[in-house]
Amino acid sequence: MNTELPADLLIQGATVMLPSGPTVTSVACRNGHIVAIGDEHFPAADTLDATGLHLLPGVVDSQVHFREPGMTHKETLEAGTRGAVLGGVTSIFEMPNTQPLTLSAEDIAAKQCIAAQQAWCNYAFYMGGSAANAEHLATLETLPGCSGVKVFMGSSFGDLLADDDAVLRRILQNGRRRVAVHAEDEARLRSRRHLAEEAGHVTAHPVWRDVDSALLATKRVVTLALEVSRPLHVLHVSTAEEMAFLQHHKALVSVEVLPQHLTLCAPECYERMGTLAQMNPPIREKRHQDALWKAIEVGVVDVVGSDHAPHTREEKKKAYPDSPSGMTGTQTLLPLMLDHVNARRLSLTRLVDLVCSGPARLFGMVGKGRIAVGYDADLTLVDMQARQAMDDRKLASKCGWSAYDGMVLQGWPVATVINGRIVMRDGEVLGRPAGQALQFLP
Ligand code: DOR
Repeated sequence: MNTELPADLLIQGATVMLPSGPTVTSVACRNGHIVAIGDEHFPAADTLDATGLHLLPGVVDSQVHFREPGMTHKETLEAGTRGAVLGGVTSIFEMPNTQPLTLSAEDIAAKQCIAAQQAWCNYAFYMGGSAANAEHLATLETLPGCSGVKVFMGSSFGDLLADDDAVLRRILQNGRRRVAVHAEDEARLRSRRHLAEEAGHVTAHPVWRDVDSALLATKRVVTLALEVSRPLHVLHVSTAEEMAFLQHHKALVSVEVLPQHLTLCAPECYERMGTLAQMNPPIREKRHQDALWKAIEVGVVDVVGSDHAPHTREEKKKAYPDSPSGMTGTQTLLPLMLDHVNARRLSLTRLVDLVCSGPARLFGMVGKGRIAVGYDADLTLVDMQARQAMDDRKLASKCGWSAYDGMVLQGWPVATVINGRIVMRDGEVLGRPAGQALQFLP
């Protein structure tokens, strides 16, 4: 690095979450990269006084559904990524259950084309894995801006499904990158749907989509992954039983949990919010939430993602179980987790591992996940003291609601720096969308 040239931006005085630990120091950024750490007098065109604040590596939300193309009344890449940067997120991985489904090079190119014009943060797209494209996945997963392959073992929203072992094996055999999986057992879900219909109330959601629906699928897909030595990422793990199983397979299998499952509990959330609390896999009873926190503490969990899955209020009003599953999350992911840090449920260092360095390491993101000279200048500045109520009116999401309206949280993002540019400051987005396609190790 040439340290003679002035920096574009110098962030001064923050407690910087360095790989070696939290340190009060300065970070200089030039041409989208970090060029110096520790020189508070580094010449710079622009400075940001961050005294009293914490500087994190840019937050990666590795599970969002932004609905474009096909369902732009629910969400768009523009609104979804604007919500992300307002929430301190600098990179997103977007899911393939759009319309059309993301199953081909053309499908992913169409998303890239929209994102290149409209994304506020950096982005990558998952390729859906199905019987139709299984034999092409080794090539498809290496397309530029592809975060890997995503498989739905159980129907959730949209038509993407790979529910039998023969198809799953074909998918897992074709390619080498980590495969992300939604693990709910389709046959069991079908055989139990009558329980939801008979109950007619969303309180039955975790009864219909019970512990065994999740556990069966997780065991099946982990067994197949071990058989063919394919790294796996089990998305939104929601049960104590899966955590007990997954802890024995950490060499090959990574684990994601969601703020929803860490924050909300059944049956209270269903009684209070009705179908707004409906998502897959379901929000469950306290004993499961306790097990997820324990799994964070002992290291079984690798990543926290948001599973941002917007549906309009009108759609959510359909009679259960015809009401769609999913809720917003990318803008609320970091405030919720910072509040959990302030409540001492996890340390800020552990959170950085879960939402910054963890996803970067697992998915082989080039230049992301740590504050270090030579890395990309994607940074999230947070105020651990700020107390504020969640306010649905501040959401960028086109669906306009969250499960947390009115909840008072301590710990908020105050600035988002992406590719060396301040893109969000004090709750306002700045400039215009300039997100870039993410790169991954070969
Ligand atoms: O609740 C959910 N909704 N879970 C998923 O896995 C899919 C998502 C959606 O796309 O709406």
